[in-house]
Amino acid sequence: VGPDVIDIRKLYAQTGKFTYDPGFLSTASCNSTITYIDGDKGELLYRGYPIEQLAQNCNYLETCYLLLKGELPNQKERDDFTKLVTNHTMVNEQMQFFLRGFRRDAHPMAIMTGLVGALSAFYHDSTDIHNAEHREISAIRLIAKMPTLVAMAYKYTIGQPYIYPKNDLTYAGNFMRMMFATPCEEYTPNEVLVRAMDRIFILHADHEQNASTSTVRLCGSSGTNPFAAIAAGVACLWGPAHGGANEAALNMLEDVHRMGGVEKIGEFVRQVKDKSSGIKLMGFGHRVYKNYDPRAKLMRETCHEVLDTLGLHDDPIFKLAMSLEKIALEDEYFVARKLYPNVDFYSGIVQRAIGIPVSLFTAVFALARTVGWIAQLNEMIADPEYKIGRPRQLYTGATARTLKPIEQRG
Ligand code: ACO
Repeated sequence: VGPDVIDIRKLYAQTGKFTYDPGFLSTASCNSTITYIDGDKGELLYRGYPIEQLAQNCNYLETCYLLLKGELPNQKERDDFTKLVTNHTMVNEQMQFFLRGFRRDAHPMAIMTGLVGALSAFYHDSTDIHNAEHREISAIRLIAKMPTLVAMAYKYTIGQPYIYPKNDLTYAGNFMRMMFATPCEEYTPNEVLVRAMDRIFILHADHEQNASTSTVRLCGSSGTNPFAAIAAGVACLWGPAHGGANEAALNMLEDVHRMGGVEKIGEFVRQVKDKSSGIKLMGFGHRVYKNYDPRAKLMRETCHEVLDTLGLHDDPIFKLAMSLEKIALEDEYFVARKLYPNVDFYSGIVQRAIGIPVSLFTAVFALARTVGWIAQLNEMIADPEYKIGRPRQLYTGATARTLKPIEQRG
């Protein structure tokens, strides 16, 4: 509670009055020491470290360690943590049979909500959210198994055999191999693309109390098991206003490309500005950032690196994205509303260049965000002030009335 923050609980205790804040525009739901965002400056810190420094100098597992434990690991801690995660990358063989229950054309996020929730049926020794050891081992299991599950979901939907994890590869390299190798040929991931994948993971690792993180906290606040809480986060992330925006942004760019590309941007932007069209510029706007999302800047940089490496600098979708960004940033509508590109605007282009299918983009986001969800969940459970999340409502329905027998109802 600081100079700009009112602790409404005292007012409630004294008067019974509560606040009305749909969408939680002005409500802090918790104290947190994990991630800091200054939306006006466009600044993002994990445990105090600027995202730019982490993206430049650390790998994803170091970032996971930082988010979970509060400090960056030293060499030994990093090695031990990497080994621990690597030892848990396999999933129970029974998972394959569970997967087979899905239609092959199921959306990967539908599969992921099921698979992640199902982990609680496989690991009974780590389902007590109030037990620190259970939380610790479930955290490692989730971080380690998410890439395996995402890759399995992908291989299942395209009808290819699963590729088992290979533990001498990096976290991102292993994921790419499980995605793109086949039993017929060895696959050596390109180093620049592995680094880009790793950077996507770092940039998506946490983002304080967004919709999916709040969902995880709320779900966990009832005392459910960690796997169930993370599955709830996956489900929430799927929506196009949140993690699903990377898929929606790329689909939008492809639509504009089909309409005629760069020359049609003006027409498309006019449609966006006409509220009756219901069209939004996907990958633009953010509840907290009223300046350029720092993750979007890093993602745009990565986009250049990846497209250069692959010899795709003339990629029409990337060119379209750059032109669209330029036009939107100079347009009065976007300027007045402080709408800037968010992380999803460029991440789809990078993922597509790496070879990730569009329908899998949000599952990759879920993979990366898992550590943030876990860190937030652990922080909540360790907070002595934590209570089950239970928002109030303003009831606007009928007043008490008497029930009529069915023959007398109009
Ligand atoms: N395109 C066009 N107009 C927009 C956009 C957009 N992408 N985003 C916001 N606006 C407009 C709104 O219509 C509103 O206009 P008004 O003042 O005339 O009514 C104004 O800007 C404010 O927008 P809100 O919807 O009130 O902002 P809110 O904080 O509720 O929403 C959100 C933020 C959901 C991210 C929104 O900007 C959006 O839908 N963006 C597109 C989806 C997207 O990219 N989501 C990813 C977010 S980042 C992440 O989850 C990883």
